[in-house]
Parts: sequence; C-alpha cells; structure tokens
Amino acid sequence: MITRILPDFVTAAESYGDEPAAGLFPEEQRHAATMCPVRRREFATVRHCARRAGLRLGVPLAPLLPGPRGAPRWPDGVVGSLTHCAGYRAAALARAADVRALGIDAEPHRPLPDGMLDRIALPEEQAHLHALRRPAGDVCWDRLLFCAKEAVYKVWSPLTRAWLGFDEASIVFAPAGDAPTGTFRARLLRAAPAGSADRLPPVLHGNWLAAPGLLLAAIVLPRDSVDTP
Ligand SMILES: CC(C)(COP(=O)(O)OP(=O)(O)OC[C@H]1O[C@@H](n2cnc3c(N)ncnc32)[C@H](O)[C@@H]1OP(=O)(O)O)[C@@H](O)C(=O)NCCC(=O)NCCS
Repeated sequence: MITRILPDFVTAAESYGDEPAAGLFPEEQRHAATMCPVRRREFATVRHCARRAGLRLGVPLAPLLPGPRGAPRWPDGVVGSLTHCAGYRAAALARAADVRALGIDAEPHRPLPDGMLDRIALPEEQAHLHALRRPAGDVCWDRLLFCAKEAVYKVWSPLTRAWLGFDEASIVFAPAGDAPTGTFRARLLRAAPAGSADRLPPVLHGNWLAAPGLLLAAIVLPRDSVDTP
C-alpha cells in the first residue's frame, strides 16, 4: 500500500504482521537484547522489510542500527525510512544519487487521544482541520496531521541532526477529490541549522493515504530539489 504514495524511484516493502522469518545480524541482536518481545519482533520485521526493499534496489544486506537521534544508519549510497504501528511495518529505500532524504510514517486510523491535538497542532492547523472535516467525515484528520508531522521529522532529523518541535512545521492537506488520498505541504517554521540549510527547502511536499485501519504519509526530497537556485 505504501508504494501508492511513493515515486517509482523509491522501493518499499511492507508487512501486516510480524514475520517469523525475520532474522537479525549479531550487532542488531545485541542492540535488541534489552527490548521486550513485542518491540524486538517489530524491530526485526521492519528490518526484514528494509532488506527486501534493499534487494530490489541492489543494496547488499547489512546491519541496520540506530544512529543520531534514532535515525537508521543506512549503508553508503542509500537513504531510507522505517515505520511501524499496530498491524503494519514498512520500509522505503532509494539511492542517495536520486533522493536527499525521505520519511514515511504509519498510524492507526483512529482519532488522537483527547487533548493531544492541542499539543501537536498550531492554531492555523486546527482551523484547517476544522474546514476539512465538513466535506469529508471519513478521514481522521487529527491523526493524519500527527502522521504527516512524524514524516517531516524523519526527513528533517537525519539532515540536520537537530530536534524539530510539533509547532515548528505547519501542514496543509490537499485531498484528491473524494478519494481518501492526496498531497500535503509542510512549511518549516524553524531555519535549518548552519551547514544543513542548503539541503532543506523551506517547504516539503508529501503524499498521504487513508485506508481502513491505517493512515500513511510519505515525503521524498529528490536530490536535485534544492540544488537549483
Ligand atoms: C522518531 C519518531 C518520529 C518516530 O515516529 P513513531 O510514529 O513514534 O514511530 P514509527 O514506528 O513510525 O517510526 C519508528 C522508526 O523511525 C525511525 N527513526 C527513529 N528516530 C528517527 C529520527 N530521528 N529520524 C529519522 N527516523 C527515525 C527508526 O527507524 C524507528 O524504527 P526502529 O527504532 O525500529 O529503527 C517519533 O518517535 C518522535 O520522536 N517524534 C517527535 C518529533 C516530531 O515528530 N516532531 C514533529 C516535527 S513537525
């Protein structure tokens, strides 16, 4: 399903449960040693997805350990993103020659817990969600906002190695007619730290999809997207 919101130069693999065949490299096993069994299975399955996607891209199998701020350390020449939520795991990979950064996020398709929207949404975003609710009642826009913001962070963080708060990006959704899918744009309200500003445009463009039980968001920053003045 994630491939529906990714360009064809990004490869992806997904799973709707844990894969009994998912194995870990010794380095990954050591990292996962203190995880509870549920987290360890999720950790292994999403890496199994990454290796399946990597095979299609021609990337040799290698341990996939967390780097700065938890972002996966991809092999040289590769960029990617991982996500997991109840009943879903996915990995998306691309060649660094094609893509500067990418972020995917999956969330259960249900409203956010009470009080959480106020913690993650700017006033302008709350007004935007209110306007969206009127024509289409079948998308949990509040959870989709959270999903899109997590995808933003997965693009921002590996490029900047800095934190980005929920109030530091402003999201606007554009539904594709009546279909539960569409695009979004994320305006970054915080300047990228020195040294990374030339790698991040001030507005990121993404795609989203709402399915029964599952919300997906993806942002792909093509390599040439910020090189041209
Ligand atoms: C890191 C974060 C985005 C992960 O999202 P999540 O919905 O909790 O979890 P997901 O299952 O979708 O993603 C988890 C995967 O994200 C990846 N990840 C973790 N930290 C990351 C980072 N800093 N950058 C990129 N990817 C990261 C990892 O691969 C992780 O899986 P793994 O631990 O098995 O390797 C989230 O926990 C977080 O810290 N959010 C706060 C920051 C934020 O979102 N700000 C909003 C900016 S507008």
